[in-house]
Amino acid sequence: MNTRETMSWWVSSNALYVMLAIVLLSLLNYFKGDSLSSWLSAIQLFNTTKPAVKLEEVKKQLFVGLGREVSHDPMLRERRAIRILEIGAGTGSNFAYYPPDTHLVVVDPNPNFAKYFQANKDKFDHIRCERVITSTGERMDMVPDNSVDVVVMTQVLCTIGDPCKILQQIIRVLVPGGKFYFFEHIREFDSERHRLRQKLQDLLTTSGIAPYFLEGCCLNKDMLPAIGAAGFSKVRAERFYAPIDSFIYQLVKPCLKGIAEK
Ligand SMILES: C[S@@+](CC[C@H](N)C(=O)[O-])C[C@H]1O[C@@H](n2cnc3c(N)ncnc32)[C@H](O)[C@@H]1O
Repeated sequence: MNTRETMSWWVSSNALYVMLAIVLLSLLNYFKGDSLSSWLSAIQLFNTTKPAVKLEEVKKQLFVGLGREVSHDPMLRERRAIRILEIGAGTGSNFAYYPPDTHLVVVDPNPNFAKYFQANKDKFDHIRCERVITSTGERMDMVPDNSVDVVVMTQVLCTIGDPCKILQQIIRVLVPGGKFYFFEHIREFDSERHRLRQKLQDLLTTSGIAPYFLEGCCLNKDMLPAIGAAGFSKVRAERFYAPIDSFIYQLVKPCLKGIAEK
């Protein structure tokens, strides 16, 4: 085989993708930081402290409407406060975008959240944490029907096999007219221009490598069809590329964000 033939064998076989996957996972391990538990996730890093990742603008744009939401709870409305339920809050990377006097309910299966929140509550003094529920979003039956003005869920659906159940729960707990704010990384949506990324996402997910190393995270999902079919009265959503330059996050660059109304 000459050099050109060798190169084309590497590209046409899956060997190149496997090599890239191994390099990528080693890098992820190298760069992993502290998290609420042993949760190792590219996405958690991608959302929190790394200077290479600039998601502030994306989140600011997504959450700007929170300040205009009006509560259905008369007592909260009088104070211009709202009640937000965040599902899978993780390290609280969204809290900075919540409006003053946010009444917060958190559902997260990670049992360390309450401790984490207590330790950081000075940073979150615009938030009153009403309740922390250690559970998955699919099983949050203890949150009453029609009880929250807004549900926020970011970078969670990638780990959930069947999103229908959690989306039904979100609709159940929202007040009529309440909003669901979402932001997820998704499967590459431009297969003409970014075929390599799409192939890598598929390979790393179907081989089980990404779910194994990243706590169940699938790199090749697109949640928009499920959100669209869940029964919201309106869905505004946009697929876009997150402003991420760093090489190790290229697989989570294609994203979906939006707001759905009950
Ligand atoms: C990648 S982190 C995202 C954290 C935060 N939402 C963010 O955007 O930075 C995923 C979070 O979802 C939580 N989680 C995983 N499975 C869940 C489920 N079935 N229901 C609710 N939360 C879940 C994890 O405990 C973790 O805190």
